[in-house]
Amino acid sequence: MSIASRIEALRQRYGRDLVILGHHYQADEIIDHVDIVGDSLELARRIPEIEARNIVFCGVYFMAESASLLARPGQRVFLPDHSADCAMARMARAEDVEKVLEKLTASGRRVLPLAYVNSSLAVKAVVGRFGGAVCTSSNARVMLEWAFRQADTVLFLPDRNLGRNTAGQLGIPAEQQVEIDAAGLTLDSEAAAQARLLLWPGCCPIHERLMKPEMVREFHRHFPGCRVLVHPECSPEVVALCDGSGSTAYLIKEAEKAAAEGRENALCIGTEFHLVRRLMERHADRINIIPLAQASCSDMEKVDAPRLLATLEQLESGAGAVTVDEALKAPARDSLMRMLENCR
Ligand code: 13P
Ligand code: SF4
Repeated sequence: MSIASRIEALRQRYGRDLVILGHHYQADEIIDHVDIVGDSLELARRIPEIEARNIVFCGVYFMAESASLLARPGQRVFLPDHSADCAMARMARAEDVEKVLEKLTASGRRVLPLAYVNSSLAVKAVVGRFGGAVCTSSNARVMLEWAFRQADTVLFLPDRNLGRNTAGQLGIPAEQQVEIDAAGLTLDSEAAAQARLLLWPGCCPIHERLMKPEMVREFHRHFPGCRVLVHPECSPEVVALCDGSGSTAYLIKEAEKAAAEGRENALCIGTEFHLVRRLMERHADRINIIPLAQASCSDMEKVDAPRLLATLEQLESGAGAVTVDEALKAPARDSLMRMLENCR
């Protein structure tokens, strides 16, 4: 039997006792077997409605941690490869974030942390303890507005690009946005003391380093009048040259709209390649979708069909379930719930 048929046989065997979730960045060999596909916001929102005892999360570690946090008592969350850990999330260590926030607030300055969901649960717990919240690329603007209603200064982490791109939408001038360092040494500068938005020095290597302004110019030269749309984890320089930027959900919707309207003959999309290739294939008869770069996320790729099969084969034993430190649960849940309540 092929790996795909063995996975399907196990899905049948577990029936209602198993739900498989997959992020849009997963390869087709995984998406073919998932019950729910979504971006990180959509998948987090769906967890509380799941009744199955076993949830297999095909994505990266921080997503499975959030799922485990939001799961019901007795439910078990599995990630087929625990080393699938988002490179951006690794750029913010909870100890560093805590030290920076302690330093920032020691003098009574009203600073609120806003953590992109691409961060560890330990970071989300620190953020929750300091009264802050989580956001995703779909709701970063709403959550940054919320954060500025609570405090004079916001510390946005770990993604400096999402922070800057969202601040640009709110009209916060570049000179009021200051990138700090993880050791907090730059906090002593005059610029940091005056800043409205402090940015953690993190980024997504796939969106920041592999998607360049020159690629956008090149596409516009070859396809005059056609649009380039990118994920806001791309640098502000790239976003400034593009015709739109937004979350995974936004990019999927725009591709669907463009295909339905049939006005453009090409549309360039700058985000993870497995998703772009799926959009290319899905809409091939209506529109030519072109990837800005063939950039796939090596962490997302660690979850492949053999690993999914291995997880399903040992599901009964419970081995490899994602666990969350009890002490982190309450503050991390606070930061996640502040997002879910503000973005119903
Ligand atoms: P979304 O929040 O759009 O799902 O993106 C997650 C991610 O890892 C983007 O690189
Ligand atoms: Fe993390 Fe980037 Fe991979 Fe998304 S694409 S999971 S931000 S490394």
